[in-house]
Amino acid sequence: MVDKAVWNALIDAARAARLQAHAPYSRFLVGAAVLDEHGRLHAGCNVENAAYPQGVCAEAGALSAMVLAGGRRLQAVVVLGDAGSALVTPCGGCRQKLREFAAPDTPILIADPLHSRALFTMDELLPHSFGPDHLT
Ligand code: THU
Repeated sequence: MVDKAVWNALIDAARAARLQAHAPYSRFLVGAAVLDEHGRLHAGCNVENAAYPQGVCAEAGALSAMVLAGGRRLQAVVVLGDAGSALVTPCGGCRQKLREFAAPDTPILIADPLHSRALFTMDELLPHSFGPDHLT
């Protein structure tokens, strides 16, 4: 159970990360923050590339930071961006990347810079998913 103060810290981290995004091509800035099993926060932003397919999503950056710091389980995820009335939910590839470290009930909060917008579980965003358990 993630308490409100921790959610707020995750949102703040994602908001700050978003402002560091390198998105000169889409101009669509995204920040992500994750809470690992040790209670540590890790953030990431999208990093685009002149060779467009080489760009990296914010969620991937946050997961890389988590793994580098020794985290292996996601307790909570925030994805924060501004798409007007649309929700900035993780892309399909990022849903699979998050799934690697998530439980079916891991909460994923979607926010814009000013508001929390929607709360999903991992399983809601990627039902019937393939994961590490399939390989054991
Ligand atoms: N983007 C993310 O960083 N995360 C998502 O979940 C959706 C999309 C980025 C990728 C690209 O740099 C920009 O947003 C526009 O697609």
